[in-house]
Amino acid sequence: MFNEKWLRKIELQKQSGLYRNPVRIDKREGKFICVDNNTVINFSSNDYLGLSTSSDLKLAASKNFMKYGTSSSSSRLVSANYSVINEAEKKFAAYFGYDDAIFFPSGFQGNQGIVSAILEQDDIAIFDKHLHASSIKGLVLSKCDFVGYKHNSMDHLERKCVHYENKFKVVLTESLFSMDGDFLNVEEFKKLKEKYNFFSVVDEAHSFGVSGPEGRGIAGEVADLAVGTFGKALGFFGAFALLPKKMKEYLFNFSSPLIYTTTLPEAHAATAIEILDIVRKSDDKRSHLHAMCKYMREELQGLKFTVHGDAHILSPEIGDEKLSSEMSKRLLEKGIFVLPARYPTVPLGKSILRISLTALHDKSDIDKFVQAMSEVMKEMGLVTV
Ligand SMILES: Cc1ncc(COP(=O)(O)O)c(C=O)c1O
Repeated sequence: MFNEKWLRKIELQKQSGLYRNPVRIDKREGKFICVDNNTVINFSSNDYLGLSTSSDLKLAASKNFMKYGTSSSSSRLVSANYSVINEAEKKFAAYFGYDDAIFFPSGFQGNQGIVSAILEQDDIAIFDKHLHASSIKGLVLSKCDFVGYKHNSMDHLERKCVHYENKFKVVLTESLFSMDGDFLNVEEFKKLKEKYNFFSVVDEAHSFGVSGPEGRGIAGEVADLAVGTFGKALGFFGAFALLPKKMKEYLFNFSSPLIYTTTLPEAHAATAIEILDIVRKSDDKRSHLHAMCKYMREELQGLKFTVHGDAHILSPEIGDEKLSSEMSKRLLEKGIFVLPARYPTVPLGKSILRISLTALHDKSDIDKFVQAMSEVMKEMGLVTV
């Protein structure tokens, strides 16, 4: 029986332009997806290096699943602490420059499981207000005191550090923000970390694989602990956390979302090792992607949008939720798949179109995007020329 109050909540979502109803995708081929029998260009994928449909990775994964089987069939603490998983974790720690690493079934679970375990009552967490929901859920679970600072404002972060000077502090941020697409100011963050001696947790979900030398991310020198996911540039599934010494032992003892879950299969770990090698050798993909991002940003600015984003996530500001939803719908009719980000993913009244570019896009795709966008703006009376 579906309760009346749940029905009312769904209705309210619809009325306020916040209703979520995932588009059904019938088929995917690289940068193309098929929606309602139409093949459209996907600008909403986090497959930044285009690996997830590449033959190299598909072959590696199928070979490993044939070798190891399809499930670990247990939690890590019962009978799934396999050697190949430990070997892969060591390799991830070494590649990204940390003491240790641990795999999680997803980035959401990783953030929630780590944040809720390392903080407790009477600790203070200071977080960027645009931090991903998974870390925020972890803060709520932890029962610690937490306070936000203005997005990417190092001045505001400093004021919070001063306020809580004598407490054990954990500061949480992303390195490349998932919605705004802007980078953490690493230099200023480093100065604050040295001055106020906080423990830092940096979510590098969107930068690992793409940003920094050989895709090693941008926050290595300021993160005590970093979280990455396989589901974006690494073209796979699951997640990894990069840890200081002793933290793995701590998490095995105190992180419920890690303890009470089935471990990713051995085939995942064996494939993860091969992914590192692919990522290391992907400089050509990274520089092509970089060039496409620059081109897209300039073209969007040509359409008079205020565009956020320093890298492969670009977010033209739209504002009204109904407007961004309508634009997305009309773009789809013109062969472009791009979705709006709306409250609560972004603040109310500040919706954006979240464009993510991948190494599979080329200039002609971007030209098609821009052509479709300018037609939509004219149709909707949003431009005067
Ligand atoms: C910044 C950030 N962190 C964590 C996650 C969660 O990662 P996963 O998709 O592996 O659960 C996401 C995914 O949307 C994200 O954008």
